[in-house]
Amino acid sequence: MLTPYTRAWCEIDYNAIAHNVKEVEKLVGDTKIMGIVKANAYGLGAVQCAKALQAAGVRFFGVSSLDEAIELRSGGIHDEILILGYTPPKNFDQLVAYHLIQSLVSLDYAKKLDAFAKEHNTKVRVHAKLDTGMNRTGIVYQPDHQCFEELKEAYTLPNLCVEGIFSHFPVSDDLGEESRQFTQKQIELFDEAINRLKNEGIDPGVRHIQNSYGILNYKDLGYEYCRPGLLYMGVTSDDAIEIESEPDFIPILSIYANVSLVKWLKPGESVSYGRHFIAQKDTKIATVSIGYADGLPRLLSNCGVQVLVNGQLCELVGNICMDQCMIDVSDVENVKEGDVVCFVGEENGHRLTIDRVSRLAKTINNETLTRITARMPRLEKRKR
Ligand SMILES: Cc1ncc(COP(=O)(O)O)c(C=O)c1O
Repeated sequence: MLTPYTRAWCEIDYNAIAHNVKEVEKLVGDTKIMGIVKANAYGLGAVQCAKALQAAGVRFFGVSSLDEAIELRSGGIHDEILILGYTPPKNFDQLVAYHLIQSLVSLDYAKKLDAFAKEHNTKVRVHAKLDTGMNRTGIVYQPDHQCFEELKEAYTLPNLCVEGIFSHFPVSDDLGEESRQFTQKQIELFDEAINRLKNEGIDPGVRHIQNSYGILNYKDLGYEYCRPGLLYMGVTSDDAIEIESEPDFIPILSIYANVSLVKWLKPGESVSYGRHFIAQKDTKIATVSIGYADGLPRLLSNCGVQVLVNGQLCELVGNICMDQCMIDVSDVENVKEGDVVCFVGEENGHRLTIDRVSRLAKTINNETLTRITARMPRLEKRKR
């Protein structure tokens, strides 16, 4: 077994998840949390995050696919699991075998599930996905007769147990007037569809619509569940985006790598591919064993981004390579092979956020997190 803390690695503060869950609960009151752990909990470890969420009282999980659900079951998660995405008909039997809840991507899809259940003399548990404006998946709901009939038909298919109804916000992160109106309209449509079901004597089941920004900006909706992913990780998609509430989250991810070599360059000598950094004076360079094949975006090359070497801020210089990058450590005394460099995390009063990585990489934290590659060990946070 290799020693884990030797090249490049993530440290994850799974204990901070409980704190972040409490912060979400302060916002949403009695609304319970469905912990979204899809895409390996955005790369931070689905089973570990689900267990930390369980310890904080979460009893419902959301994933994107059947294999993600099975991974949770195999990891000992026996609570409710909703598959938010599509499961192909040839795998319908697994939904029943693993006691999973499938979301209805359309009425046609609901009919296929119903036919499967009938043929196998079983019942399939589902949540009705209502498309109120995302136009991705779901039974479209607009207040005309036909849409409601489709929803009602899905609810009355005899071999499905429709235990819940949900929808999704595309612009809950935007406090601009147009986006607010759009989101409010979605909430109205959602409520209207639910009330019409109730008026027809149909129990809609549990209701949920809020993702992380839905929780931050539309906290008082009072549905049975909300669906945070990023928030329990202690971040939003982008900390430059204004939000309505003032939660106190603890980011759970730190990223570190080791120094492999320290050397002095003379004026005129260059660093890395393309020779984009040329030393203007005697410059001490540390080579660090992390690169874009670990998930460090190459767009962070040559833009003055700072990292922490022995608690001191230093600039990354030259192009980031596949497995390595270089740092100007001229001002750091005693830096040597084996020293730990912090790329994301907190040290010596400096906080290096994932947000700044995402901004420089022209993306959002959701993508930066999920792009951390498989060769990066995900380890429990160590005390420093
Ligand atoms: C349907 C659905 N619900 C909830 C979430 C969680 O979103 P967030 O990480 O913004 O909380 C996602 C993530 O993309 C999603 O697709």
